[in-house]
Amino acid sequence: MAYPSLPGASGDLFGAPDEEAPWDEPIAPGAVLLRRYACGRAPALLAAVKAIAAAAPFRHLETPGGQRMSVAMTNCGTQGWISDRRGYRYGAEDPLSGRPWPAMPDVFIDLAREAAARAGYADFAPQACLINLYRPGARLSLHQDRDELDLRAPIVSISLGLPAVFLFGGLQRNDRPRRFTVQHGDIAVWGGPSRLAFHGVAPLRDGTHPATGPSRVNLTFRKTA
Ligand code: SIN
Ligand code: FE2
Repeated sequence: MAYPSLPGASGDLFGAPDEEAPWDEPIAPGAVLLRRYACGRAPALLAAVKAIAAAAPFRHLETPGGQRMSVAMTNCGTQGWISDRRGYRYGAEDPLSGRPWPAMPDVFIDLAREAAARAGYADFAPQACLINLYRPGARLSLHQDRDELDLRAPIVSISLGLPAVFLFGGLQRNDRPRRFTVQHGDIAVWGGPSRLAFHGVAPLRDGTHPATGPSRVNLTFRKTA
């Protein structure tokens, strides 16, 4: 990837060579992609994911209809999102261990708050962070995030590792979604008029990323109540 190498240019001599200056890409009313915004903190985020997964392992949840999800999931925070035969919901405990979900690390909270504020949502206080692990072929079909009681807070979604095609539609399931390639360090924020927009992730393509190997990690922050 080309980057400016002249002193004083946006990625100056003292920055990491693979770090581009972030930029904002509005995608819908109330929705924006903060391109590369998380790159500098990616190593700390991924180290924290590793520690969380040691305590609360990634697992493939079952949908209420009995399908095994292709994306593997875990959570941190005071609430975690789960799915099983009984439905979708948030809960304070990991059903695998019966223990509370690991605490949300400060590096997560700070970045989620900053990203929300940059997108126009001040004072975002996430309670749940769903951590999604995509291997090649894994996908997330179009859905709305509506298991939260407070729909005034936005969703903040951080992409790490392999690129993916993020599908972002309208408020009706049959509105044709637009396709955005999300890369390592990109953050999507949607709220306000877009809070209930249908969204999903197209099947992950084969590949290897220096930070995550053959996978994509996504962190989704939500205020649940
Ligand atoms: C989600 O909708 O929960 C996650 C979206 C993503 O992985 O980018
Ligand atoms: Fe979602």
